[in-house]
Amino acid sequence: MRRADALPIHAGVRPPPDAEPFYLPVADEIAVFEACHVRGLPVMLKGPTGCGKTRFVEHMAWRLGRPLVTVACHEDLAASDLVGRYLVRATETVWQDGALTRAVRAGALCYLDEVVEARQDIVVVIHPLTDDRRVLPIDKTGELLQAPPGFQLIVSYNPGYQHILKDLKPSTRQRFVALEFTFPPAELETRIVAHEGGVEAGRARELVALGARLRQLRDRGLAEVPSTRLLVAAARLMASGVAPRQACRTAIAAPLTDDPDLLTAVHDVIAAVL
Ligand SMILES: Nc1ncnc2c1ncn2[C@@H]1O[C@H](COP(=O)(O)OP(=O)(O)OP(=O)(O)O)[C@@H](O)[C@H]1O
Ligand SMILES: [Mg+2]
Repeated sequence: MRRADALPIHAGVRPPPDAEPFYLPVADEIAVFEACHVRGLPVMLKGPTGCGKTRFVEHMAWRLGRPLVTVACHEDLAASDLVGRYLVRATETVWQDGALTRAVRAGALCYLDEVVEARQDIVVVIHPLTDDRRVLPIDKTGELLQAPPGFQLIVSYNPGYQHILKDLKPSTRQRFVALEFTFPPAELETRIVAHEGGVEAGRARELVALGARLRQLRDRGLAEVPSTRLLVAAARLMASGVAPRQACRTAIAAPLTDDPDLLTAVHDVIAAVL
């Protein structure tokens, strides 16, 4: 059986970036991840949206010099998307590797983003890769792929969005070393916002103070509080010349809520801080 010509074996496999992706560590996550990599242990990144999980994975791929395969999980993700499928062509049938198979062949970091969004009976295809065997059985071709030492599985999920019907099976969860991500302490978040947003430290500090105040509004019903990503977005608008309050209203307040009362409360905090 031939492989599909249309898609090279390494399609979707990003080589390690030449330039270091900027990542400011918050604790010992880099050392723990490196230890997991050496031991071939899969890693689970837990934390709210916009707190640096994806950036961390990109940084680690660069640091370890490994290619990266990212799979954005969703409920229609099929086992064949991960493992592969036969494609029927005019004159023949060809095999096309899925994203996970390509990652194993390339010895890549394989990042399953928002893994709880995938159906959990699909997620079990990763199980044989997460124990001592480190193999991927491809039932349809009869191939048993042995993962090379550089291959590593990483999954992320946001516990806040967790739904009783959308949790990971314990048999999946307990295969991972879990790293908890959260919003960085103010001093670090200021450096991140300044670097990523292209604003000076004083401006970044104001935005971080605003973020801290808005995060307290969770108690008053603001379900989603601003992430580092939103603070960076506001900083970028300011760096482009948008007036500070306007930047915060459009990049922070509006994405957070549609509720008129909560919007007023957020606008009041913006006016008080900037
Ligand atoms: N520790 C950090 N070092 C450098 N940049 C960071 C850090 N934390 C957050 N950022 C900034 O925040 C932005 C959002 O982070 P990222 O995309 O990694 O979030 P995420 O946790 O993957 O979110 P999601 O769950 O929505 O995918 C990054 O693009 C980066 O600018
Ligand atoms: Mg992400």
